[in-house]
Amino acid sequence: MTAATITGLGTAIPEARLTNADLEARLDTSDEWIVARTGIRERRVAAPAETSSSLAVEASAAAIKDAGLVPDDVDLLIVATTTPDQALPQTSALVHDGLGLRCGAFDVGAACAGFVHALVVGATLLDAGNLGAVVIVGSETLTRIVDPDDRGTVPLFGDGAAAVVLRPCEPGYGLQSWDLGCDGSASHILAVPPGEQYIQMEGQEVFRRAVRAVIASAGNVLRAAGRDADDVDLFVPHQANARIISMAATQLGIPAAKTMVNLERYGNTSAASVPIALAEAAEGGRLVDGDVVLLSGFGAGMAWASAVLRWGGA
Ligand code: UT7
Repeated sequence: MTAATITGLGTAIPEARLTNADLEARLDTSDEWIVARTGIRERRVAAPAETSSSLAVEASAAAIKDAGLVPDDVDLLIVATTTPDQALPQTSALVHDGLGLRCGAFDVGAACAGFVHALVVGATLLDAGNLGAVVIVGSETLTRIVDPDDRGTVPLFGDGAAAVVLRPCEPGYGLQSWDLGCDGSASHILAVPPGEQYIQMEGQEVFRRAVRAVIASAGNVLRAAGRDADDVDLFVPHQANARIISMAATQLGIPAAKTMVNLERYGNTSAASVPIALAEAAEGGRLVDGDVVLLSGFGAGMAWASAVLRWGGA
């Protein structure tokens, strides 16, 4: 399988916090309800001057530095975002300019599964094109497409970005297997409908399908890698709802101690959630060379994506 591994990570976390207490003060909701039903305690909100591209530039620059590289070393940039700065051009062009890159760049749109899709695309292109370094960044300003008066969606979503640098590695490390899926017939259950400004969601239906998709997709990808749940050193799922994560992990047989959860501090940051969680896990010393890492994202579309990585090997 593709010999591409993560050698650098970086995040861009907006400073402003929107806490459950802030929401209690202006909506018919409570900290108790939000924590019990979602696990979320606060989310970050981008400053007026921040955009998905500016956050992506900040996260990517940090990841490139962390990998010990400079922008000129980057051979390809892929941006995963649900909240592009503009309809045209694609966000990756703005990020490309912000970083001063001289390589190809494009966006991948697969909502909350976007980062894992982009990772798979980037790793396979690195392999196919003999590339030296590929930057994958998930970046979102979701608070701008959430109705501030809708208690059903406002507590869930937050802003942020995180990036990784993929580089060639020894065989047996890096991306081991992947599983991409989509059920477009369920597109309407999580959408910004034509002519509308804000997210509309059938929460319970998304919840049910998310749990099913993660369990099936994670099972597929572990099987394809010749692994089982016992081999997983760290499970990094999309951070949408603590109950989705614990139901899926329990069903898969992955203990809570091996499951990365940080949604209490960020909420659901869509394409940024998996890389932010991965970056925090690495920073917290939870990833060592040889670890088997299971990533799984799911969301609008409904699209889902899972990957098994073997950490290190650069
Ligand atoms: O990346 C994928 C993105 N989306 C998701 O992952 C969302 C998946 N779905 C969910 O996370 C959950 O369905 C929610 C957190 C959105 C909702 O939780 P739930 O346990 O499914 O609640 P519910 O929709 O069944 O609503 C239960 C009650 C309702 O009141 P009634 O009809 O029982 O009187 C809601 O109106 O809770 C009410 N409710 C709230 N109450 C207090 C809904 N939102 C709130 C709120 N505060 N913020």
